[in-house]
Amino acid sequence: MQFKNTLEYAQQLDAEDKLRKYRDEFHFPKVDGKQVIYFTGNSLGLQPKRTQKFVDEVMTDWKELAVEGHFYADKPWWDYHERLAAPLAKVVGAKPEEVTVMNTLTVNLHLLMVSFYRPTKKRYRIICEEKAFPSDQYMLQSQVRFHGFDSNDAIVEVKKREGENFWRTEDILQTIEEVGDELALVLIGGVNYYNGQVFDMETITKAGKAQGAFVGWDLAHAAGNIKLKLHDWDVDFASWCSYKYMNSGPGNASGVFVNERYLNRKDIPRFEGWWGTKRDTRFLMKPEFEPMENADAWQLSNAPILSVAPYLACLELFEEVGMDALIEKRNKITAYLEFILHEIDKEVDSTFEIITPKERGCQLSVFLHGEGRPLFDYLMENGVITDWREPNVIRLAPAPFYCSYEDMYRFGQILKAGVLKK
Ligand SMILES: Cc1ncc(COP(=O)(O)O)c(C=O)c1O
Repeated sequence: MQFKNTLEYAQQLDAEDKLRKYRDEFHFPKVDGKQVIYFTGNSLGLQPKRTQKFVDEVMTDWKELAVEGHFYADKPWWDYHERLAAPLAKVVGAKPEEVTVMNTLTVNLHLLMVSFYRPTKKRYRIICEEKAFPSDQYMLQSQVRFHGFDSNDAIVEVKKREGENFWRTEDILQTIEEVGDELALVLIGGVNYYNGQVFDMETITKAGKAQGAFVGWDLAHAAGNIKLKLHDWDVDFASWCSYKYMNSGPGNASGVFVNERYLNRKDIPRFEGWWGTKRDTRFLMKPEFEPMENADAWQLSNAPILSVAPYLACLELFEEVGMDALIEKRNKITAYLEFILHEIDKEVDSTFEIITPKERGCQLSVFLHGEGRPLFDYLMENGVITDWREPNVIRLAPAPFYCSYEDMYRFGQILKAGVLKK
């Protein structure tokens, strides 16, 4: 496609955009009274306008029904979370029974490791990517220590090659093979938070399992961003947060996938609580734990309804639009952003190096050669909301639900003005 770096052309792309009406479904912050250009949907998605209604409904039910809301609210609270499984399963390519919503991401990964990291003297090693998201590093280190191993020995990090900004699948496969029958678990971020790389989850999952290990994925940057087929790829488990591409609000409830193979199994250990027991007998308060026959068996506490309600609101949007349409726009708007960066690059002295490989979702991580923090500050002051990562990288994620092609054009103009101002 031959793009053009003009306002008219960007507006023409917007006019042709089948998803353009969804921009109006979201609240945008303002800077100096002007709607911002929002590139941080990979960190915290914008608030859908319809979310307020879902939250107000719970507040009203609580006000008017108090405890009776558990059973007599329009959407009773006792099974509220069950409404999320079917739409969420479509987003992550799972069967509804393989998906549940509970807790927050790091908590869920810990809980899943109770089931899927059961090291023995011989098989105790974990493969992950180097410089994984810090919370994942802390989680893995503390789990390994908890089981009495030394994290320097038990955790095997796959490194990028010297001079390269991305991981090679062949290097991950080779590491899996080398660790061999000492491998207990592969746990990697499906989309890397720093460079935006999408890992070949299908191939890596297959290779890890061929060595007799469990394979799980942290999908924080993947859910709602890329096409996932967790069931077909035969992934063992996964978890993701809902506040990035799934727009459910700061720190909100997290999603979990457990492969159907592990449902209804007595030999898979779990930390348990009353919300994981069979729904029909849950309130009989019996001493024995009878697990739900789906991923809800991993639930511990009664669901935090005020945190689940915004997730349900946004899942309604995902139901309407579907991942395929989102991905189609994502590919085009990200390619347009890439084009704009190249065009502006030609007009200024500094160089913008896109370090995101071609296996990508909607994030472009850009190394600003010849620039520094002042350029980032200039962008923010001029209504471009992006983020900064050491040493000199900005991450730009044009979320297809609400970003426009005109945003990309205008961003290019602000970027150029910021560089030329020096
Ligand atoms: C890749 C990744 N993993 C884990 C986390 C931690 O999420 P939480 O604070 O919800 O546990 C984040 C948060 O941004 C993340 O990006």
